[in-house]
Amino acid sequence: MARPAEKASLDQWYVIDIAAEIPAEAKPNRLLGRDLVVSRDPAGTVIVREKLEGGALGEPLPTRDRYGFIWTTLGTPERELFDIPEADEPDRRHVVCGAVAVRASGLRIVENFLDMAHFPFVHTDILGAEPHTEVRHYTTEIRRDVDEVWATNCEFFQPQAALSASGGIMTQYMYRVAAPFQTLLYKTCPAAANRWDVICLFVQPLDHDRCRAHPVMFIIDDESTLTSMVHFQQLIFLQDRIILENQRPRLLPLEPRAEIPTRADISSVAYRRWLKEKGVTFGTAERAA
Ligand SMILES: [Fe+2]
Repeated sequence: MARPAEKASLDQWYVIDIAAEIPAEAKPNRLLGRDLVVSRDPAGTVIVREKLEGGALGEPLPTRDRYGFIWTTLGTPERELFDIPEADEPDRRHVVCGAVAVRASGLRIVENFLDMAHFPFVHTDILGAEPHTEVRHYTTEIRRDVDEVWATNCEFFQPQAALSASGGIMTQYMYRVAAPFQTLLYKTCPAAANRWDVICLFVQPLDHDRCRAHPVMFIIDDESTLTSMVHFQQLIFLQDRIILENQRPRLLPLEPRAEIPTRADISSVAYRRWLKEKGVTFGTAERAA
């Protein structure tokens, strides 16, 4: 039997579906190795319950409707769902890109999201191109006041940084890991020089080695159609999925020497150290204590 989820992973908020796509009738879902049933009550409110041994349903779990998604938790989160102030700015497009199933640990997905070195090789001629392969020095830190991992002063040459970009530009990035399975980035906005486009990747761990990724963007772009923006992001993420599903081991190693980091990987080193401090083991190669 698979190792059950530990407290550190249980006590978090997770996306389980796009809010607008939850039907009235009961639908199965899954989180952290446990079965859920999602439905709506007669008033339309989303109800999430755990399916217990023998098929009985547990008490309704806490839910939040935020950023276009329904969130829930199987534990008791210490904090409210993290804030993304840009999500409430009225002139941004809110682009929900659709769930992508990935056969990999959810933590691997977050780590890949933080990695700039793969741009020229995985997202060739979009987010990177040879010979511009160097990851310049950037800063990474665990922000203790908010308990998040940040990487700042990141930059990379990108041939097509966004659909709204015309020609290659040096793109600035900031990365933020707001919870063990929840990450977002702020990048140069080609359409507004003094603001950032925000791209979020909310990961729903189904099992240790299987998850659904829920990308959503809050971007400034008055020109592109919604469909073309969704397609652009899906193209990028499907390129990542090929890499993610071929990574071995499929679970994330937290032991420092399991995989040799380079200078470009300092954000991943901080992320793994932070996971270890928190005692996160779901999706890791840690042996059960
Ligand atoms: Fe990627």
